[in-house]
Amino acid sequence: MKLDAEQLASIQRDGFLVLPDLFSSEEVAAMNAALAPLFAETSEANVREKKSGEVRTAMGLHLRNALFDRLCHHPRLVEPAQQILGHELYIQQVKVNVKAAFEGEAWQWHYDFATHHADDGVPQPLALNLHIFLADVTEFNGPLWFIKGSHRHGAQPTFHDTVSTSYPLWVVDRDVVADLVGKGGMVSATGKAGTGLIFHDTLLHCSPPNLSPHDRPIFSLILNPVSNRQTKLARPEYKHHTDFTPVTALTDDCLLQ
Ligand code: SIN
Ligand code: MN
Repeated sequence: MKLDAEQLASIQRDGFLVLPDLFSSEEVAAMNAALAPLFAETSEANVREKKSGEVRTAMGLHLRNALFDRLCHHPRLVEPAQQILGHELYIQQVKVNVKAAFEGEAWQWHYDFATHHADDGVPQPLALNLHIFLADVTEFNGPLWFIKGSHRHGAQPTFHDTVSTSYPLWVVDRDVVADLVGKGGMVSATGKAGTGLIFHDTLLHCSPPNLSPHDRPIFSLILNPVSNRQTKLARPEYKHHTDFTPVTALTDDCLLQ
C-alpha cells in the first residue's frame, strides 16, 4: 500500500497521519481474539497498571503470537514506512497499549525518541510508530493527544519519570509542552476500530486516563532503519528487539489466511 502525495505532505507537516478504515472489522476481530490469552499470561512483557494491576501494555507480541508476527509484516504497515524511511527497516518494538476501561492510566507528555535514545542508544530520531485502533477510540476512552508539528522542533529536553506510572519514560517538562502547544495546538487522534495512525519519533504526545466503561486497545509497531539501530543492549528484548533483519511485506490477505 502506498501513501499519496497529499498524505506524505501531511505527515511531514503535522508529524502524524490518520488512516481511517485501514483494517477491516474481520481483521480487527482476529487481532482481538489473539489478545485475550496473551493478556492472561504471567509474563514480564505484560506491564501492569500501578494502581489496578490491569495490563497496561503487552509487549513483544510478534514473538508470542503468530498473528501478531504476520501483522508486523503487513503491507499496509510496512510499505508506507518503507516509502518514508527506505527499505531496510527492523522491528524495534511491538505492543498493544490497552488503556483498560475505568483503570487505564495516563501516558505522560513525551516523544518516543527520548526513551529509545537514552535507554537504547538509538542515534537519530528516524523511527516511525504505526498504530491500529483495536476498538473505537473516542474523546472518552483516553485517545492520544498530539502537538501538531512539534516533531519539527526536534528533540526537547527530558527527564526520567519512574514515578507517575508503572512504565518508566523520558518525559518533557510542562513549560516545553506549553510553549509547543502555543505554536502548533493540540489534536486528539480518534477513529473507529481498524483506523491506522503513523507518527514521527519526535512528535510530542500523551494520553489521559480512561474513565469510560470502554477499553481502548491500540496496536503499535515501531520500525527503525537498520542503519540507525540501537547501540546499547541494556533493556530486555521485549522493550527493544535485537533482530536487525530488514522486515519484508507479506501479502495483503496475510491476517485472514
Ligand atoms: C505511547 O505513547 O507509547 C502510548 C500512548 C498511548 O497508548 O496512549
Ligand atoms: Mn509514545
